[in-house]
Formats: sequence, structure tokens, C-alpha cells
Amino acid sequence: MAEPHLVVVDDAAWLARVGADVVAEVVNANGPVTVVPATGETPVGMYAELAARRARGEIDTRGVSIVQLDEYLGLERDDRRALFGWMDRTVLEPLAIADERVTKLPTEGDVDAACAVFDRELDARGGIDLAILGLGTNGHLGFNEPPSAAGSSTRTIDLTPDTIAANARYWGSEGDVPTRAVTLGLRTLLDARRILLLVGGASKHAIVRRALEGPVGEDVPASFVRQARGSVTVVVDRAAWEGE
Ligand code: PGA
Repeated sequence: MAEPHLVVVDDAAWLARVGADVVAEVVNANGPVTVVPATGETPVGMYAELAARRARGEIDTRGVSIVQLDEYLGLERDDRRALFGWMDRTVLEPLAIADERVTKLPTEGDVDAACAVFDRELDARGGIDLAILGLGTNGHLGFNEPPSAAGSSTRTIDLTPDTIAANARYWGSEGDVPTRAVTLGLRTLLDARRILLLVGGASKHAIVRRALEGPVGEDVPASFVRQARGSVTVVVDRAAWEGE
């Protein structure tokens, strides 16, 4: 366990480049890698940067396997709000990740029972090499809503009013945001060999400071990155860091 490496950048374009450097370093290391890519707006520019690097032959994604970070529950498979679709559009398609290299979270039947199997299988294949994460204004990672224990497993969860309000900007209104979700647990995320946490915009100022400088605990799940097993890089833009 080491202190997170904090990189403060001027703007979104710079955040995308610094984030892409971290991802490229992991992906270009020898051997297959398992990557968890967050959806949300913050990493979108970084994924575009990675796609451009791939087009220039600078990274080879053939060895990349993807594990889904989180998903809403209660949606039809082709619902426009499905986070799998978001991941498909921003990550899988632009980075040419083959279907057989993608592991979806369970969303049907007894989801919690399926999540327990999911965690065992993920452990058995060696866990996660790189978790790319965004930060919720309530301190969540994935949909590990506060309070979430550092040892929490992959599971279903009720979204908090904060998250529903924040996610309304993706889908139109709060009424369009599903209220239940499934998320990789903090235990699996904090066990990743590398974590890349991306934070942008003044709306994240208070929470990024709390996560990195306040007490570590369940009320701010992202604070647990300071106790992660692997190395942690936090890339924060100046608006989020300074609150301007
Ligand atoms: P955002 O979402 O990147 O769209 O701000 C972050 C999150 O809720 O985890």
C-alpha cells in the first residue's frame, strides 16, 4: 500500500492524455490484462485518446479483457440507458475489444447469488490489472454508494438520491434514472494491481478533497483508494482540485 500518486492537470484534454499514458503503460506491458473501464463523462475523452493512439499503432488492445464495472437494474436489454451500451460505444467498439473478451455483470434472475459466483470466478482468473474509475459527487466508486465497506462484494444496491440527481444529466431527468443497480464491490476494486481515478470539474472539488484528505471510511467510499493494495494514480483537473 502506498500513497496515491496525484497529478493535477489544467484541463480535460490534458486529463485525457495523462490517463491514456497510464492505460497504455498497462496495456503495452507483456501479457494479457484485465481492465475495468468506468462509464460516466469523465473518462470519455481518455477513451477517445486511446482509440486515436490505437489507430496510430501505438497501443495494441488484442490482449485486453474487459470486466464491466456497474450497471442499472430493471432495464430491457436494448434500453438506451444501459451502461453496457455506453461502455460498448465509448470503449469496446473504439478500442476493438472482441465480444469474447468482455465479462458483463449479472442483471437477471437472482442477481446477488450470481454476483457471488461472479466474484469467485474473477478471483480465480486473477482479479483486475487496471481499474479505471470516476468519482461520484457522493464519493462513490462504481455504484458503491455510501456507506460501502472496503470489503464489500459485488452486489445489488439502491442508488442514493445524490447519484440519481447526478445521473439525471445523462438521461434527461431524475425520473429517467433507474433506482437500483449492480456494482463490482470495493473489495475487488481495491485489490486491483493498479487504479486510475479520474476527476474533473468544480462540482467534484469538495468530494475529491474529502476522499484524498479527509478521514478514510465508508461514508466516502473513494477514500479507500488510500488503502488500495496496488498503485493508485489520481488525475484531477485544476477546477476539481482548486474548486474554481
Ligand atoms: P461522471 O460520473 O464521470 O459522469 O462525473 C462519475 C461517477 O458517478 O462515478
